[in-house]
Amino acid sequence: MATGKSPRSLRPVCVAASAGTVNTGAIDPLDAIAGVAAEHGLWFHVDGAYGALGVLAEGSAARYAGLARADSVALDPHKWLGVPVDCGCVLLRDPAVARDAFSLVPAYLRDEGAGDLGWFSEYGPEQTRPFRALRAWATMAHLGRAGIVALVERTVALAHELAELIERSGDFALLAPVTTSIVAFRHCPPGAGDRLDELNRAIPAAVQRRGRAFLTGTRIGGAEALRACLLNPATTTGDLEMLLDEIRLVTRTPHR
Ligand SMILES: Cc1ncc(COP(=O)(O)O)c(C=O)c1O
Repeated sequence: MATGKSPRSLRPVCVAASAGTVNTGAIDPLDAIAGVAAEHGLWFHVDGAYGALGVLAEGSAARYAGLARADSVALDPHKWLGVPVDCGCVLLRDPAVARDAFSLVPAYLRDEGAGDLGWFSEYGPEQTRPFRALRAWATMAHLGRAGIVALVERTVALAHELAELIERSGDFALLAPVTTSIVAFRHCPPGAGDRLDELNRAIPAAVQRRGRAFLTGTRIGGAEALRACLLNPATTTGDLEMLLDEIRLVTRTPHR
């Protein structure tokens, strides 16, 4: 170890759990992890950069049990909320902790008369910073709570619809259960045999090059996988069918 200390002398300070992983959108058992963190006096952080807003979907809320126990939650409005990049944020149970960690203004010089907000630059590593909050505020003011809930529920429903199309297809396989709005799957055309990894690895770039749909690639359980992240509520069933057809089209091989 670089510290020269034995693992026994190293004390963890924080537990980080996921509320919506990148690959599959899976959610950790947040309540159980919060319990472990509380038992050992650890900071409990939740990475909800992509998935935290899923808590607003009626059918998904139960999966997020324990989110409210977090000391901090990372949440990117530039993801599910559709705010132009870059606009990430962190929600803190006790903002004073971040202020004490990052502020360059010693506590004895702080202008407490200005209220407990201080400058945003006192709450993170960034000193000079643009007015990102305006974009987040404008989006939230425009959509309202009901609009945000509708956006989240619609995109979750679209992900389930895509998963159903995949399961009914005969030439695609779902690689993970859909828990948020991410669908992890794989194209398995008849006759592909042991070329499945090679074939799926080539799909994302080929689909992107055609310019009609966008999906990314990843590896899940050692297998090349495709990943569709549904964030646009204007997406239609026809768009989902078109995505699968685009994949079929770019993988069509002479022997098929
Ligand atoms: C779960 C999760 N955490 C963190 C990140 C990183 O977010 P950013 O690119 O805004 O730093 C992402 C985005 O890709 C993500 O999906």
